[in-house]
Amino acid sequence: MKQTAYMKKVGPLSIVGAVLMVGVPSPAAEDLVSRRQADMKAMAVAAKTISGMFKDPTTYKASEFKWAADTIRDRSGGVLSAHFASEADSRQSKARPSILEERDRFDRLANDLRDYAVALDAAAEKNPGQMPASMRMKPGEMMGGGPLGTHVRNEQELSAMPAEHAFHLMLQTCTTCHAKFRME
Ligand code: HEC
Repeated sequence: MKQTAYMKKVGPLSIVGAVLMVGVPSPAAEDLVSRRQADMKAMAVAAKTISGMFKDPTTYKASEFKWAADTIRDRSGGVLSAHFASEADSRQSKARPSILEERDRFDRLANDLRDYAVALDAAAEKNPGQMPASMRMKPGEMMGGGPLGTHVRNEQELSAMPAEHAFHLMLQTCTTCHAKFRME
């Protein structure tokens, strides 16, 4: 019979498939988790690059600074949010289930991150040569908290502040989101 022949052909394969699908997260979920973790790692490398240039401005290279800012820009905002849009049931993941319940807060942090990255990109664009003093924070300038908190309300406010300040607010955004939405 035709059907028997068919069963013989695919039988063993579907058994393997069934075994793979029992009790383990779907490959798609694993993929998503690896992808978003890879994005996070890439952002960490980019943040380190920028941090190094603020620590030693003689190492500033506008093109590298911009590339690092763009690495974060392209992995934040809606891209980041979409990576956490559904519950990815994976033991590999350190994401808290509360992301789904506090969607707005999570998305706002993802968007803040993007705003800061865009501001840093603009700073690099504007300063192709050496890093000017205007990109640095002035001594005693409020680090962290301050009247603005982590969230900058508008673009004007953001473009008026030194890039280094925007960078510190960016790092606080990473920390804030991790404290709230990532497991230890
Ligand atoms: C809107 C929330 C949010 C923001 C903003 C955010 N992260 Fe994350 N990050 C997460 C979550 C959630 C995880 C856990 C992901 C998982 O394991 O599925 C994570 C994981 C990580 C990891 C571990 C990746 C791994 O391999 O397990 C690193 C590194 C990281 N983030 C760096 C950063 C850096 C650097 C920034 C800022 C430039 C940042 N993150 C901004 C939510 C955020």
